[in-house]
Amino acid sequence: MCGIVAYVGERSAAEVVVDGLRRLEYRGYDSSGVVVSPGAGADLRVVKRAGKLAALEGALVGHVLDGHLALGHTRWATHGRPSDANAHPHLSEDGRLAVIHNGIIENYLPLREALTASGHVFESETDSEVLVHLIEHDFAGDLAGAMRSALRQVLGAYALVAMHSDRDEVVAARATSPLVIGLGDGEQWLASDVPALLPYTRRVVYLLDGDVAVMTRAGVHITDLDGAIVDRPVEIIDWDAEAAEKGGYEHFMLKEIDEQPTVLQQTLGGRFRPDGLDVDLDLALDPTAIDRVVITAAGTASYAGMVGATMIESLARLSTTVEVASELRYRDPVMDARTLVIAVSQSGETIDTLEAVREAKRRGARTLAVLNVKGSSLSREVDDVLFVHAGPEIGVASTKAYMAMLAAFALLAIRLGRGRGTLSDERVAELVAGLRGLPHAVEEALATRDRVRVLAERMASARSALFLGRGVNVATAFEGALKLKEISYVHAEAYPMGEMKHGPIALIEPSVPVVAIATASARYDKTVANLQEVRARDGIVIAVASEGDEVIASHADEVIYVPRVMELLSPLVNVVPLQLLAYETALALGRDVDQPRNLAKSVTVE
Ligand code: M6R
Repeated sequence: MCGIVAYVGERSAAEVVVDGLRRLEYRGYDSSGVVVSPGAGADLRVVKRAGKLAALEGALVGHVLDGHLALGHTRWATHGRPSDANAHPHLSEDGRLAVIHNGIIENYLPLREALTASGHVFESETDSEVLVHLIEHDFAGDLAGAMRSALRQVLGAYALVAMHSDRDEVVAARATSPLVIGLGDGEQWLASDVPALLPYTRRVVYLLDGDVAVMTRAGVHITDLDGAIVDRPVEIIDWDAEAAEKGGYEHFMLKEIDEQPTVLQQTLGGRFRPDGLDVDLDLALDPTAIDRVVITAAGTASYAGMVGATMIESLARLSTTVEVASELRYRDPVMDARTLVIAVSQSGETIDTLEAVREAKRRGARTLAVLNVKGSSLSREVDDVLFVHAGPEIGVASTKAYMAMLAAFALLAIRLGRGRGTLSDERVAELVAGLRGLPHAVEEALATRDRVRVLAERMASARSALFLGRGVNVATAFEGALKLKEISYVHAEAYPMGEMKHGPIALIEPSVPVVAIATASARYDKTVANLQEVRARDGIVIAVASEGDEVIASHADEVIYVPRVMELLSPLVNVVPLQLLAYETALALGRDVDQPRNLAKSVTVE
């Protein structure tokens, strides 16, 4: 949500900043802007536009934006609709101070009233604009000091960045919303996410809540809100720049779907013990010190959690529940020191997931994150982290991170089961062999694309779609329906297959295709019976079935065959044609696959 980029150094700052904003487009936005300091006390130059970056770039043509210090912002509207006036940067009335902000200032209304009463004139409807007036009010030559003073008056979440025409520096502060500084020689960068920095540097410093950083060409100086110096480690990013490029693909989403066999190798690589009878996850957690597990997450990560819950119950015999983080954080959950709370997240910045973890910690629970992004807020707040190693995921619709999360959960369930003595050598050997075979099976599942493309034509004209699954593949149905909704805007609902007769069956008609996960399972016969019930009501069934299943074709209108793998690992293979179905349907409908309307890649506000 919202993208921030800042630069100070010898390069053309406007070019660096617009390039960075382009690399952060996936975060989701509806307006953008850039401000440049020409230096020597001259007025700041700002250009901002509602709409996509192309609108900003069009507006920049003909503007001379020379300067070596700039801020850029992509805004995802919260307070005030997307418009030129509401876009950031916001300038002070004298045109010498500029501010960009991610997050929400919760007490902006009383602040705005007080500032207006003292003569300040507001030009936008945003909560953010109070920040520029507060800083302007307190500025007497010390920008960091004025920012600290302003921040003492606000409540809420922020990644805040400012510059002043008199100062050759960028000043930034963080509370909740992420900020990372890229270090160079005689130049520095700042961004809300690492991909904006990748073409320039791998040496980064993550700001923590309460930090105020002053960035000049010479270096970075970080203090707390009281001005006391704080030391933050320099970390090295191991993602390569190409990983965050399209690499010849039309869309990041398709590239990331295709990367999944490699991602599985990364997730699983180096984690099996040499004898193949356990896994090494480098966790401090004692599996015998917990009685139950609560998995919490949002969206796709919560569906990964559903699969994880089945794996943990089945292999480690631990009672496991899944709860969406936005609910868990506001409930009065029963938890204690023998409860393990697992937070699942690609970004590690989803505010609901972070708050759910904080609530769990207040209640004394042990915490573990199944997480993709290193250096993210979540990684610093939990007792243990199991990194999934999916690499940078840019497509708003999560695909390869989901795949990596499922593989990580399989490893975790094996470790917990081994640690608790619930898994025999034979069972572990079977699971490890199954996991080792997954990259190849997923590669084969990718070959369904041509078949799926044909079915997408039907989906593109559907009024709505139903996704059904059983057991560990209920989550696959939920994930398939979410993918379709997110990027094609075709309405879809997912249900456990056995629930169909309790209501959703009323929806069945030829214009509502039913996508059913019908791969080999202990409940295969029940699945077939349910498909019959759909077809008896003129429903159109698209079945995802196991290769070699010669019966299924007589129970379905269309079949997508995927490789046969053990049932507990089948979600990793079964999800692939559903990802492709969403992608191809979105293409058929001419949707913006990588930047679907209204969505943000990581949801950092409530
Ligand atoms: O970064 P996270 O995994 O915490 O994000 C959670 C959800 O916001 C995310 O999975 C969302 O549902 C995706 N758009 C799904 O494709």
